Amino acid sequence: MDEGQPDGRFIPVARLTALDARGRAVVQVGDTRVALVRVDGQLHALEDTCPHRGGSLHEGDLEGTLLHCPLHAWPFDVRTGLCPWRPDAKVRIYDVLVRGGEILIAASDRVPGR
Ligand code: FES
Repeated sequence: MDEGQPDGRFIPVARLTALDARGRAVVQVGDTRVALVRVDGQLHALEDTCPHRGGSLHEGDLEGTLLHCPLHAWPFDVRTGLCPWRPDAKVRIYDVLVRGGEILIAASDRVPGR
């Protein structure tokens, strides 16, 4: 997990204790739902809403770094947001920092007024 100094893009979204037993959480950032997903000890943040029909990606099963949508199983790579099945399907990813038990993501542009 990254430790470092956040720049102005980073906003706090949750504490590490908010992650469930699988290392997952979902947070609301402005009007965007963001999934927090731990894979091999590394925390990733990606848009939670599947571009196919709106499945909640944080509820999906992991296969390596591929997170499968719980509705129709489209896979999204948590590192890139890309779907290997569908070149036109992509979710946004966010850089993640952990500082003092708090999770920050580079999503300040998602919050009105910042
Ligand atoms: S809603 Fe995600 S694959 Fe269909």
